Amino acid sequence: MDFSKQLLNWYHVHQRELPWRQNKDPYRVWLSEVMLQQTRVAQAIDYFESFTRAFPTVADLAHASEEAVLKLWQGLGYYSRARNMHATAKQVTDEFNGVFPQSTEELMKLKGIGPYTARAVSSICFNAPVAVVDGNVYRVLARYTGGDLPINSTQGIRHFAELAQRFLIQTDPGAYNQAIMEFGATVCTPKNTLCAQCPVQTGCVAYATGTVAELPKKSPKKPPQPLWIHYLIPVDPMGNTLLTQRKGLGIWEGLYTFFAIEQQSAGMDQNRIEAEVPLIWPGQTGAISLINTEPVVHRLSHRLIRAHFWRER
Ligand code: ADE
Repeated sequence: MDFSKQLLNWYHVHQRELPWRQNKDPYRVWLSEVMLQQTRVAQAIDYFESFTRAFPTVADLAHASEEAVLKLWQGLGYYSRARNMHATAKQVTDEFNGVFPQSTEELMKLKGIGPYTARAVSSICFNAPVAVVDGNVYRVLARYTGGDLPINSTQGIRHFAELAQRFLIQTDPGAYNQAIMEFGATVCTPKNTLCAQCPVQTGCVAYATGTVAELPKKSPKKPPQPLWIHYLIPVDPMGNTLLTQRKGLGIWEGLYTFFAIEQQSAGMDQNRIEAEVPLIWPGQTGAISLINTEPVVHRLSHRLIRAHFWRER
């Protein structure tokens, strides 16, 4: 039996019961795929349950306030994705009568829906014969075929997209796409790979050549840009901590935060911070003191944030 058929059989036995697999509602599948692009299944389940409880249909999401949507997204990151989903929900509701378009091409015209999400939704919900490629798919295909083109190079991206399409089971593309992703997430994992349980072990080039741990290959990428943020934490006379809503463009637009001074390089003396305080913290006049001398480090894919926190003395 060939690779694809074996994966599909494996999936029929081992697939996890997940809340977005209860039916093929494109709204729910779309939401799950967006969430799964930024978090693991275990965390996505909780967010998915609260989100669909608050907004059971695409029309409910369309009619929600942006604030309510962002609140339910809080902690997931990539808040522009939540905003794009909100915009797309409005468009589907207002312009398409609440009915999602079915083809990959039409789905890609919607805000925030790129090739991956369009392929996932159109194959899973509407049987479109298109292969998805996510991190799991790269890993499974690179190992099975021994392909060593870097998965973040133009050549590698093209190679693995073609390979994924060639392996696709055209008669059941939704189940096949989920099978290869599920297999990558639970058996052909980045570390502690479960080769002993692998249904396609006999045909796997990486297994035969002892290169499972080395594949897929990735070219080194740009190091994340460092950012230092000084947060000023205002506490009012009642002991309440005050927050402000971020204005201006950027990844955290509209989110709540402490007053913040951002800078591109290390070191900022207290005099300079004190000079800036009245500009961003209305009514504050007193002296401030540093809470943490060692910065709190927070890594994003493209940023390395070091945070210092200040309070009124
Ligand atoms: N990862 C992202 N989407 C997935 C899906 N539909 N099934 C399994 N793993 C996934």
